[in-house]
Amino acid sequence: MKPFICFFTLLLVCTTVRSQNTVDLLITDTSGPQINRNIYGHFAEHLGRCIYDGFVRDGKIRMDVVEALKKIKVPLLRWPGGCFADQYHWRDGIGPRNQRKKTVNTQWGMVTEDNSFGTHEFMELCNLLGCEPYFAGNVGTGTPEEMESWLEYLNYPGESTLTDLRKQNGRDKPWNVTFWGVGNESWGCGGYMTPEYYAMLYRRYSRFCRRFNGQPLKLIASGANADDYNWTEGVMRNITLRNTWGIGMHYYTIPGNDEIHGSATQFDEDGYFHGMMSCLKIEELINKHLAIMDKYDLQKRIALVVDEWGISTDVEPGTRPEFLYQQNSLRDALIAGTTFNIFNNHADRIKMANLAQAVNVLQAVILTEGDKMLLTPTYHVFDMYKVHQDAHSLVVKFNSPDYIYGKEKIPAFNASASRDTQGTIHISLVNIDASKTMTIRTSLQNLPSKTVQGQILTSEKFNDINTFGQPDKVHITPFTGARKEGRDLVVTLPAKSVVILELK
Ligand code: AHR
Repeated sequence: MKPFICFFTLLLVCTTVRSQNTVDLLITDTSGPQINRNIYGHFAEHLGRCIYDGFVRDGKIRMDVVEALKKIKVPLLRWPGGCFADQYHWRDGIGPRNQRKKTVNTQWGMVTEDNSFGTHEFMELCNLLGCEPYFAGNVGTGTPEEMESWLEYLNYPGESTLTDLRKQNGRDKPWNVTFWGVGNESWGCGGYMTPEYYAMLYRRYSRFCRRFNGQPLKLIASGANADDYNWTEGVMRNITLRNTWGIGMHYYTIPGNDEIHGSATQFDEDGYFHGMMSCLKIEELINKHLAIMDKYDLQKRIALVVDEWGISTDVEPGTRPEFLYQQNSLRDALIAGTTFNIFNNHADRIKMANLAQAVNVLQAVILTEGDKMLLTPTYHVFDMYKVHQDAHSLVVKFNSPDYIYGKEKIPAFNASASRDTQGTIHISLVNIDASKTMTIRTSLQNLPSKTVQGQILTSEKFNDINTFGQPDKVHITPFTGARKEGRDLVVTLPAKSVVILELK
C-alpha cells in the first residue's frame, strides 16, 4: 500500500504546485480610459552627470542619446529639477553662453553651474526629442514675479520687453509651454514647508502663472513623499482647485533601508525580493492618495502626477555620493514593468509620471561614459511598453500566485492591457518570482487572435546588468512562449521576466 499512497501524495503535491503557478487572466473587452502617453515621461535634473555629460557633451546636445530616446517615444521631459528647481533662476540661463552667470549647485555637490544649458537649450532638446516640456518652477527661493516673467518669456506671442529679449536670444515664436510645476518637494528640499503654508503660496503663484496665450496652464502642485497623506490632505483642502490640473506624488523604491539603500548590482535574493516588495507598495500609496483627493475633487478632475519614481540604490563604488549614479539591473526592469502595469491600470487618474532620471542618475534608461553610451534594462521596458501610449486601457482581473521568500510573500504576477487605434491589443505581463515559471491562461473570446507575437526581457540572474564591456547582456528577444489552445491563449511566462504580447 505504501508506494501507492506516496504516488498519490506526489500527484496531489504536483497538481497543487502546478495550479499555484497557473493564472487565469480575464481581459475585458470594454475600453477603459486612455493611457495618457505622459505616463511614460522622463526627468532631467542638473544633478551629477545627467545634463552635462548625459544630454550635453562639449557644449552640444548628444545626438546618440537623443536618437535612443526617440526610439522609445519619450513623450515628456521634466526640467530643471527636482531639488535644483527651487534654486534655479531662469534669467541665469539665457543669452550668450560665455556671458552667463556662474552659480553654485548647492543641492548636488557644490559644483559650479555655468548655466550653459538653460531655457533655449532645454526647448531645443524637447524639439529634437519631439516631446513636451514640463517645467518645475522655483517656489523655494523664487517669487511669483520670477515665475510669471519666465512664462511671459516662454509663451507670450505679443510685444513686450521680455519677448524682445527672447527674440534677441534667437527665438521668434513663443513656445506654448503647457505643463508647469509649482515648486518641488516643498515639504523638504523645496523649503521645509507645511502643507498649509505651501497651499497659501500655491494660491498666490497660481494667480499669476498664466500661459500668456489666452489658454490656461496645466498647473501641478508639489506633491507628497510616499505615504505622507497629511501633505495631500492639507494641500487639497487649501489650494485653489479650479486652476489646478494635477497634484504630484514622489515614490522611490528602496530595497534596503533609509540609510543603506543597497547595492545596485551586488544583491542576493533578499535584495531582489525586498526591492520588488518596495516597488509594489506604490499601488497602495496611489489608492490612498487618490481617496484623499476624491474627498475634495468629487468629479475626479485633478490628476495624480507621479513626477518622480524609480529605484534608488547606493551609488556605484568610486563615484560621488551626491551625483546619484547607479547601475541598472534586470531587477530594475521588472520594477519598471510592474510600475507601468500599475499606472496603466490607474489610467483614469494617473495622467503623468516621470522616471527619475533619464540619463546617468538613479534608475536611468541610458548610461554614458565619455563618447560611449549604453541602454539599460529599464530602457528596454520603455521600448516594449511604448505601444500602450495613448491606447485605451482594458480592465484585467486575475489572482496572482504568491512569491514566497522566507516568512514573507508578495504577488508574483502583474499585468495590464490596452487596445490601440488600429484595434491591436497589447498585454504586458510580469513574473516577479525569482525561480518559478508561471502559466497564464486567458480567454480570447472577445479579443483578436489571428496573430499573436511577443517580446521578452529576462536574463540568467536578477542582478545581470549591461556594461560598457558587455552592453547587450540584458536585451529584448522574440517571445515564443504563447500558444493558442482552442479559444484560450496560454502563455508560459519564465521566472523574472517581462513580456509584451501583441494580438491582431
Ligand atoms: O531625483 C533626485 C531627487 O530626489 C530630486 O531632486 C528630488 O526631488 C528628490 O528628492
